[in-house]
Amino acid sequence: MASADRINELRRRLSQLDESSLDLIFRVAQSHNGWLDKPVSDVTLHALYDLARLGPTSLNTCPARFVFVRSPAAKERLRPALSPGNVDKTLAAPVTAIIGYDEQFYEHMGFLFPGREGVRERFAANPANAHETAFRNGTLQGAYLIIAARAIGLDAGPMSGFDNARVDAEFFAGTRCKSNFLCNLGYGDPAKVRERLPRFAFETVCQVL
Ligand SMILES: Cc1cc2nc3c(=O)[nH]c(=O)nc-3n(C[C@H](O)[C@H](O)[C@H](O)COP(=O)(O)O)c2cc1C
Repeated sequence: MASADRINELRRRLSQLDESSLDLIFRVAQSHNGWLDKPVSDVTLHALYDLARLGPTSLNTCPARFVFVRSPAAKERLRPALSPGNVDKTLAAPVTAIIGYDEQFYEHMGFLFPGREGVRERFAANPANAHETAFRNGTLQGAYLIIAARAIGLDAGPMSGFDNARVDAEFFAGTRCKSNFLCNLGYGDPAKVRERLPRFAFETVCQVL
């Protein structure tokens, strides 16, 4: 089915998520700090990535790279890079995703945006712009991963409290990738969720012009 037909068909079936779905993804969902002893399978990680990868990026650059740290041996490689407050929960989490980005994402433009001439060369000639594009879109893709995780019934615990250089040396040595943030994934322990912190009111931070 062509894209337009699929969109029209979807609109006939569903105009928005129901209240429970909105609770699951936003209103009840929170950042998790403790984890139930329940594994996350390869099938679940594939389902997670298959949704997250569909979120939009500029020029479809898709610069994010994901390392799912799951085995005890791999967790031990991560441990020395973690801020003290993040160690216990990261070791307890079934999976810790390293959300990274490829600074030379543009080498894949022939696959990602066929027919769009000159994109590779423009980014290759402007490393500052390439970095900004990789970081902006890689961060967005990390957010898509969090939302996708919640949508398939996982909980997420994002973290920037770690030493990026150490993670890069341990997990991305010899590559063009750099770490952005970490995200624990699994089935969270509701007893370890913190009180919801305040959010700004619409009037405080939004303008309608
Ligand atoms: C990019 C990012 C980095 C974060 N880093 C940490 C961290 O290092 N340690 C931690 O305990 N929580 C960390 N958090 C969790 C935030 O404090 C939490 O998401 C925020 O307070 C909102 O909490 P809520 O989801 O329960 O409403 C991080 C969240 C994000 C999105």
